[in-house]
Amino acid sequence: MIYLDSAATTLQKPAVVSEAVSNAIGRLASPGRGGHRPAMLAAEVMFQCRQEAMKLFDVPSPDQVVLTCNATHGLNIAIQSLVKPGDTVLISGYEHNAVTRPLTALGANIKVATSPLFEQEILLDDFRTKLTGEVSCAIFTHVSNVFGYILPIGEMAALCRERRIPFILDASQSAGCISISLSKLGAEFIAMPGHKGLYGPQGTGLLLCGQKGRPVLYGGTGSVSLQQEMPDFLPDRLEAGTQNVCGAAGLLEGLRYVRRRKPEEILRHEQALLAIGKRGLSRIGGTTVYASSRPERQTGVLSFRIRGLDCEEAGEQLGRAGIAVRAGYHCAPYAHRSAGTLEGGTVRISVSAFNRSREMQILCDAVGQISKKKSGGP
Ligand code: ALA
Repeated sequence: MIYLDSAATTLQKPAVVSEAVSNAIGRLASPGRGGHRPAMLAAEVMFQCRQEAMKLFDVPSPDQVVLTCNATHGLNIAIQSLVKPGDTVLISGYEHNAVTRPLTALGANIKVATSPLFEQEILLDDFRTKLTGEVSCAIFTHVSNVFGYILPIGEMAALCRERRIPFILDASQSAGCISISLSKLGAEFIAMPGHKGLYGPQGTGLLLCGQKGRPVLYGGTGSVSLQQEMPDFLPDRLEAGTQNVCGAAGLLEGLRYVRRRKPEEILRHEQALLAIGKRGLSRIGGTTVYASSRPERQTGVLSFRIRGLDCEEAGEQLGRAGIAVRAGYHCAPYAHRSAGTLEGGTVRISVSAFNRSREMQILCDAVGQISKKKSGGP
Protein backbone atom coordinates (compact mmCIF):
# COMPACT_ATOMS: atom_id res chain seq x y z
CA MET A 1 0.00 0.00 0.00
CA ILE A 2 1.10 3.56 -0.68
CA TYR A 3 0.34 5.64 2.38
CA LEU A 4 -0.38 9.31 1.67
CA ASP A 5 -2.43 10.24 4.73
CA SER A 6 0.21 11.49 7.14
CA ALA A 7 -1.71 14.69 7.90
CA ALA A 8 -4.20 12.40 9.68
CA THR A 9 -1.57 10.16 11.26
CA THR A 10 1.84 8.95 10.17
CA LEU A 11 1.73 5.20 9.67
CA GLN A 12 5.38 4.48 8.96
CA LYS A 13 7.36 5.28 12.10
CA PRO A 14 11.02 4.80 12.98
CA ALA A 15 11.38 1.16 14.15
CA VAL A 16 12.57 2.35 17.57
CA VAL A 17 9.12 3.87 18.24
CA SER A 18 7.25 0.55 18.27
CA GLU A 19 10.15 -1.15 20.09
CA ALA A 20 9.95 1.49 22.82
CA VAL A 21 6.17 1.09 23.18
CA SER A 22 6.42 -2.67 23.39
CA ASN A 23 9.31 -2.57 25.90
CA ALA A 24 7.40 -0.05 28.00
CA ILE A 25 4.34 -2.28 28.41
CA GLY A 26 6.24 -4.89 30.40
CA ARG A 27 8.65 -2.60 32.23
CA LEU A 28 7.11 0.74 33.09
CA ALA A 29 4.48 1.45 35.76
CA SER A 30 3.03 4.82 36.72
CA PRO A 31 5.16 7.86 37.57
CA GLY A 32 4.60 9.41 40.98
CA ARG A 33 2.62 6.37 42.13
CA GLY A 34 5.41 4.54 43.96
CA GLY A 35 9.09 4.57 44.80
CA HIS A 36 9.67 1.17 43.20
CA ARG A 37 11.78 0.62 40.12
CA PRO A 38 9.00 0.33 37.46
CA ALA A 39 7.46 3.60 38.73
CA MET A 40 10.85 5.33 38.76
CA LEU A 41 11.60 4.09 35.23
CA ALA A 42 8.25 5.44 34.07
CA ALA A 43 8.99 8.83 35.65
CA GLU A 44 12.35 8.87 33.91
CA VAL A 45 10.82 8.19 30.47
CA MET A 46 8.17 10.88 30.96
CA PHE A 47 10.86 13.34 32.02
CA GLN A 48 13.06 12.48 29.03
CA CYS A 49 10.08 12.98 26.72
CA ARG A 50 9.48 16.45 28.20
CA GLN A 51 13.18 17.26 27.93
CA GLU A 52 13.39 16.18 24.30
CA ALA A 53 10.34 18.33 23.47
CA MET A 54 11.80 21.21 25.46
CA LYS A 55 14.91 21.13 23.26
CA LEU A 56 13.02 20.70 19.99
CA PHE A 57 10.54 23.52 20.69
CA ASP A 58 12.73 25.88 22.68
CA VAL A 59 10.63 25.72 25.86
CA PRO A 60 12.23 27.29 28.96
CA SER A 61 11.66 24.28 31.23
CA PRO A 62 10.58 20.61 30.86
CA ASP A 63 7.74 21.28 33.33
CA GLN A 64 6.12 23.51 30.71
CA VAL A 65 5.69 20.50 28.44
CA VAL A 66 2.36 18.86 29.30
CA LEU A 67 1.62 15.43 27.86
CA THR A 68 -1.86 15.21 26.36
CA CYS A 69 -3.94 12.61 24.49
CA ASN A 70 -3.78 14.53 21.22
CA ALA A 71 -3.81 18.09 19.86
CA THR A 72 -7.56 18.39 20.45
CA HIS A 73 -7.03 17.69 24.14
CA GLY A 74 -4.31 20.36 24.32
CA LEU A 75 -6.44 22.88 22.41
CA ASN A 76 -9.37 22.29 24.77
CA ILE A 77 -7.14 23.00 27.78
CA ALA A 78 -5.69 26.08 26.08
CA ILE A 79 -9.07 27.45 24.99
CA GLN A 80 -10.74 26.84 28.34
CA SER A 81 -7.81 28.55 30.04
CA LEU A 82 -8.15 31.73 28.00
CA VAL A 83 -11.72 32.04 26.74
CA LYS A 84 -14.91 32.76 28.69
CA PRO A 85 -18.47 32.61 27.29
CA GLY A 86 -19.17 35.73 25.25
CA ASP A 87 -15.50 36.59 24.69
CA THR A 88 -14.46 37.69 21.22
CA VAL A 89 -11.83 35.41 19.72
CA LEU A 90 -9.99 36.07 16.46
CA ILE A 91 -9.13 32.95 14.48
CA SER A 92 -7.68 32.35 11.04
CA GLY A 93 -9.95 31.17 8.25
CA TYR A 94 -8.05 27.88 8.13
CA GLU A 95 -8.90 26.45 11.56
CA HIS A 96 -9.84 22.86 12.30
CA ASN A 97 -12.96 21.80 14.22
CA ALA A 98 -10.61 21.13 17.15
CA VAL A 99 -10.51 24.91 17.55
CA THR A 100 -13.93 26.01 16.33
CA ARG A 101 -16.04 23.38 18.13
CA PRO A 102 -14.67 24.16 21.62
CA LEU A 103 -15.18 27.88 20.89
CA THR A 104 -18.76 27.25 19.76
CA ALA A 105 -19.46 25.09 22.82
CA LEU A 106 -18.14 27.88 25.06
CA GLY A 107 -20.36 30.46 23.39
CA ALA A 108 -17.47 32.59 22.17
CA ASN A 109 -17.98 35.29 19.57
CA ILE A 110 -15.80 34.06 16.67
CA LYS A 111 -14.18 36.61 14.34
CA VAL A 112 -12.36 35.28 11.29
CA ALA A 113 -9.30 36.72 9.54
CA THR A 114 -8.80 35.03 6.23
CA SER A 115 -7.38 35.09 2.71
CA PRO A 116 -7.50 33.11 -0.49
CA LEU A 117 -5.16 30.11 -0.42
CA PHE A 118 -1.45 30.87 0.05
CA GLU A 119 -2.01 34.65 0.13
CA GLN A 120 -0.07 35.32 3.31
CA GLU A 121 0.00 39.10 2.84
CA ILE A 122 -3.80 39.33 2.53
CA LEU A 123 -4.26 37.15 5.60
CA LEU A 124 -1.85 39.28 7.57
CA ASP A 125 -3.64 42.50 6.55
CA ASP A 126 -7.00 41.10 7.56
CA PHE A 127 -5.57 39.79 10.83
CA ARG A 128 -4.02 43.18 11.57
CA THR A 129 -7.35 44.95 10.90
CA LYS A 130 -9.44 42.55 12.97
CA LEU A 131 -7.08 42.27 15.96
CA THR A 132 -8.89 45.07 17.79
CA GLY A 133 -9.29 45.90 21.47
CA GLU A 134 -12.44 43.75 21.86
CA VAL A 135 -10.45 40.60 20.96
CA SER A 136 -9.54 38.77 24.14
CA CYS A 137 -7.58 35.98 22.48
CA ALA A 138 -6.33 34.91 19.05
CA ILE A 139 -6.01 31.33 17.82
CA PHE A 140 -4.33 30.29 14.61
CA THR A 141 -3.04 27.20 12.95
CA HIS A 142 0.54 27.11 11.71
CA VAL A 143 -0.34 25.05 8.62
CA SER A 144 -3.73 24.22 7.08
CA ASN A 145 -4.43 20.50 7.46
CA VAL A 146 -6.31 20.53 4.13
CA PHE A 147 -4.02 22.54 1.88
CA GLY A 148 -0.60 22.61 3.54
CA TYR A 149 -0.81 26.43 3.45
CA ILE A 150 1.84 27.81 5.81
CA LEU A 151 0.39 30.81 7.64
CA PRO A 152 2.60 33.83 8.44
CA ILE A 153 2.55 32.96 12.14
CA GLY A 154 5.75 34.84 13.02
CA GLU A 155 4.14 38.13 11.98
CA MET A 156 0.75 37.20 13.49
CA ALA A 157 2.45 36.39 16.80
CA ALA A 158 4.36 39.69 16.69
CA LEU A 159 1.09 41.61 16.22
CA CYS A 160 -0.44 39.79 19.21
CA ARG A 161 2.59 40.54 21.37
CA GLU A 162 2.57 44.20 20.30
CA ARG A 163 -1.14 44.57 21.18
CA ARG A 164 -0.82 42.42 24.31
CA ILE A 165 -3.42 39.93 23.14
CA PRO A 166 -2.72 36.35 24.24
CA PHE A 167 -2.66 33.71 21.52
CA ILE A 168 -2.72 29.96 20.99
CA LEU A 169 -0.90 28.23 18.15
CA ASP A 170 -2.22 24.98 16.68
CA ALA A 171 0.94 23.24 15.49
CA SER A 172 -0.81 20.01 14.47
CA GLN A 173 0.56 20.07 10.94
CA SER A 174 3.87 21.80 11.51
CA ALA A 175 5.38 20.09 14.55
CA GLY A 176 8.23 17.97 13.21
CA CYS A 177 8.61 19.70 9.84
CA ILE A 178 8.95 23.39 10.74
CA SER A 179 11.06 24.76 13.60
CA ILE A 180 8.95 26.22 16.39
CA SER A 181 10.11 28.20 19.41
CA LEU A 182 7.72 28.77 22.32
CA SER A 183 10.15 31.31 23.79
CA LYS A 184 10.45 33.40 20.62
CA LEU A 185 6.78 33.28 19.62
CA GLY A 186 5.58 34.14 23.12
CA ALA A 187 2.40 32.04 22.78
CA GLU A 188 0.34 31.25 25.85
CA PHE A 189 -0.04 27.72 24.51
CA ILE A 190 1.13 25.65 21.56
CA ALA A 191 -0.76 22.40 20.99
CA MET A 192 0.34 19.49 18.82
CA PRO A 193 -0.34 15.78 18.33
CA GLY A 194 2.35 13.16 18.93
CA HIS A 195 1.14 10.82 16.19
CA LYS A 196 1.70 12.96 13.08
CA GLY A 197 4.99 14.69 12.30
CA LEU A 198 6.52 13.66 15.62
CA TYR A 199 6.15 9.97 14.68
CA GLY A 200 4.79 8.90 18.07
CA PRO A 201 1.83 6.60 18.71
CA GLN A 202 -1.83 7.65 18.51
CA GLY A 203 -3.13 8.85 21.86
CA THR A 204 -0.16 11.14 22.46
CA GLY A 205 0.18 14.90 22.21
CA LEU A 206 2.02 17.85 23.69
CA LEU A 207 0.84 21.14 25.08
CA LEU A 208 3.64 23.68 25.45
CA CYS A 209 2.60 26.10 28.14
CA GLY A 210 3.54 29.75 28.54
CA GLN A 211 1.29 29.90 31.60
CA LYS A 212 -0.16 27.49 34.19
CA GLY A 213 -3.54 27.08 32.50
CA ARG A 214 -6.83 25.74 33.75
CA PRO A 215 -7.36 21.98 34.03
CA VAL A 216 -10.14 20.32 32.04
CA LEU A 217 -9.66 17.09 34.04
CA TYR A 218 -9.44 16.96 37.82
CA GLY A 219 -8.07 14.04 39.80
CA GLY A 220 -4.99 12.32 41.19
CA THR A 221 -1.56 13.49 40.18
CA GLY A 222 0.66 11.64 42.66
CA SER A 223 1.55 15.02 44.19
CA VAL A 224 0.12 17.20 47.05
CA SER A 225 -2.41 14.44 47.72
CA LEU A 226 -3.81 16.02 50.92
CA GLN A 227 -4.93 19.08 48.98
CA GLN A 228 -8.34 19.08 47.26
CA GLU A 229 -7.49 21.64 44.60
CA MET A 230 -5.36 20.66 41.62
CA PRO A 231 -1.64 21.43 42.10
CA ASP A 232 -0.79 24.96 41.07
CA PHE A 233 2.39 23.83 39.33
CA LEU A 234 3.05 22.30 35.91
CA PRO A 235 2.93 19.70 34.55
CA ASP A 236 0.85 18.12 37.35
CA ARG A 237 -1.83 20.81 37.19
CA LEU A 238 -2.85 19.72 33.68
CA GLU A 239 -2.10 15.98 33.92
CA ALA A 240 -4.76 14.31 36.11
CA GLY A 241 -5.00 10.51 36.25
CA THR A 242 -2.66 7.80 35.07
CA GLN A 243 -0.70 8.96 32.05
CA ASN A 244 -0.07 7.21 28.74
CA VAL A 245 3.43 6.11 29.72
CA CYS A 246 3.80 3.60 26.86
CA GLY A 247 2.75 6.32 24.43
CA ALA A 248 5.29 8.70 25.95
CA ALA A 249 8.01 6.07 25.53
CA GLY A 250 7.17 5.88 21.81
CA LEU A 251 6.85 9.63 21.46
CA LEU A 252 10.27 10.10 23.07
CA GLU A 253 11.81 8.03 20.24
CA GLY A 254 9.78 9.96 17.64
CA LEU A 255 11.07 13.25 19.04
CA ARG A 256 14.64 11.94 19.01
CA TYR A 257 14.21 10.91 15.37
CA VAL A 258 12.93 14.37 14.37
CA ARG A 259 15.74 16.12 16.23
CA ARG A 260 18.30 13.87 14.54
CA ARG A 261 16.86 14.36 11.03
CA LYS A 262 16.02 18.03 11.64
CA PRO A 263 12.59 19.52 10.83
CA GLU A 264 13.99 21.65 7.95
CA GLU A 265 15.38 18.56 6.22
CA ILE A 266 12.15 16.64 6.67
CA LEU A 267 10.27 19.60 5.16
CA ARG A 268 12.69 19.76 2.23
CA HIS A 269 12.11 16.07 1.53
CA GLU A 270 8.32 16.50 1.76
CA GLN A 271 8.29 19.57 -0.47
CA ALA A 272 10.34 17.75 -3.10
CA LEU A 273 7.77 14.94 -3.12
CA LEU A 274 4.96 17.46 -3.31
CA ALA A 275 6.54 19.10 -6.35
CA ILE A 276 6.43 15.75 -8.18
CA GLY A 277 2.80 15.22 -7.21
CA LYS A 278 1.86 18.77 -8.18
CA ARG A 279 3.52 18.46 -11.59
CA GLY A 280 2.01 15.08 -12.35
CA LEU A 281 -1.51 15.87 -11.18
CA SER A 282 -1.59 19.24 -12.98
CA ARG A 283 -0.93 17.45 -16.29
CA ILE A 284 -4.10 15.37 -15.94
CA GLY A 285 -6.97 17.01 -17.81
CA GLY A 286 -9.98 17.90 -15.67
CA THR A 287 -7.98 17.89 -12.43
CA THR A 288 -7.81 20.99 -10.23
CA VAL A 289 -4.72 21.11 -8.02
CA TYR A 290 -4.60 23.48 -5.04
CA ALA A 291 -0.90 24.32 -4.97
CA SER A 292 1.05 27.46 -4.36
CA SER A 293 3.16 29.02 -7.11
CA ARG A 294 5.54 29.73 -4.22
CA PRO A 295 6.48 26.25 -2.98
CA GLU A 296 7.99 27.62 0.22
CA ARG A 297 4.45 28.49 1.36
CA GLN A 298 3.27 24.87 1.33
CA THR A 299 4.24 21.77 3.33
CA GLY A 300 3.83 18.17 2.11
CA VAL A 301 0.03 18.42 1.98
CA LEU A 302 -1.85 18.88 -1.30
CA SER A 303 -5.54 18.92 -2.18
CA PHE A 304 -7.04 18.26 -5.58
CA ARG A 305 -10.31 17.47 -7.33
CA ILE A 306 -11.21 15.45 -10.39
CA ARG A 307 -13.87 17.07 -12.57
CA GLY A 308 -17.24 15.34 -12.37
CA LEU A 309 -16.16 12.92 -9.67
CA ASP A 310 -17.28 13.12 -6.06
CA CYS A 311 -14.21 13.48 -3.84
CA GLU A 312 -15.23 10.69 -1.46
CA GLU A 313 -15.71 8.40 -4.45
CA ALA A 314 -12.30 9.40 -5.83
CA GLY A 315 -10.74 8.65 -2.43
CA GLU A 316 -12.40 5.23 -2.38
CA GLN A 317 -11.20 4.43 -5.90
CA LEU A 318 -7.65 5.38 -4.91
CA GLY A 319 -8.02 3.19 -1.82
CA ARG A 320 -9.03 0.25 -4.03
CA ALA A 321 -5.93 0.94 -6.13
CA GLY A 322 -3.83 0.60 -2.96
CA ILE A 323 -3.29 4.31 -2.28
CA ALA A 324 -4.40 5.73 1.08
CA VAL A 325 -5.58 9.36 0.94
CA ARG A 326 -8.22 11.35 2.80
CA ALA A 327 -11.18 12.89 0.97
CA GLY A 328 -14.05 15.15 1.97
CA TYR A 329 -13.92 17.99 4.49
CA HIS A 330 -11.02 16.92 6.74
CA CYS A 331 -12.85 18.28 9.84
CA ALA A 332 -12.08 21.77 8.56
CA PRO A 333 -15.15 23.51 7.08
CA TYR A 334 -13.63 26.95 7.76
CA ALA A 335 -10.64 26.08 5.57
CA HIS A 336 -12.85 24.83 2.75
CA ARG A 337 -14.97 28.01 2.98
CA SER A 338 -11.84 30.20 2.74
CA ALA A 339 -10.47 28.23 -0.20
CA GLY A 340 -13.79 28.01 -2.06
CA THR A 341 -14.06 24.21 -1.81
CA LEU A 342 -16.96 24.00 0.65
CA GLU A 343 -19.07 22.36 -1.99
CA GLY A 344 -17.78 18.80 -2.17
CA GLY A 345 -14.46 19.21 -0.36
CA THR A 346 -11.23 17.86 -1.83
CA VAL A 347 -9.07 14.78 -2.12
CA ARG A 348 -5.96 15.26 0.00
CA ILE A 349 -2.54 13.67 -0.17
CA SER A 350 -0.07 14.20 2.65
CA VAL A 351 3.44 12.80 2.83
CA SER A 352 5.97 12.08 5.56
CA ALA A 353 9.71 11.51 5.88
CA PHE A 354 9.12 7.89 4.83
CA ASN A 355 7.55 8.48 1.39
CA ARG A 356 9.54 8.11 -1.82
CA SER A 357 9.30 9.85 -5.21
CA ARG A 358 8.23 6.63 -6.98
CA GLU A 359 5.09 6.64 -4.86
CA MET A 360 4.14 10.06 -6.19
CA GLN A 361 4.48 8.80 -9.75
CA ILE A 362 2.24 5.82 -8.95
CA LEU A 363 -0.32 8.20 -7.44
CA CYS A 364 -0.34 10.40 -10.55
CA ASP A 365 -0.77 7.35 -12.81
CA ALA A 366 -3.68 6.13 -10.68
CA VAL A 367 -5.39 9.55 -10.71
CA GLY A 368 -4.84 9.69 -14.48
CA GLN A 369 -6.59 6.32 -14.88
CA ILE A 370 -9.51 7.32 -12.65
CA SER A 371 -9.92 10.61 -14.48
CA LYS A 372 -9.79 8.93 -17.90
CA LYS A 373 -12.40 6.38 -16.84
CA LYS A 374 -14.65 9.17 -15.58
CA SER A 375 -14.42 11.13 -18.79
CA GLY A 376 -15.31 8.01 -20.78
CA GLY A 377 -11.82 7.21 -22.08
CA PRO A 378 -10.61 3.64 -22.73
N1 ALA B 1 -6.83 16.62 11.47
C1 ALA B 1 -6.48 15.37 10.92
C2 ALA B 1 -6.56 15.39 9.42
O1 ALA B 1 -6.39 16.43 8.86
C3 ALA B 1 -7.14 14.23 11.54
O2 ALA B 1 -6.78 14.38 8.79
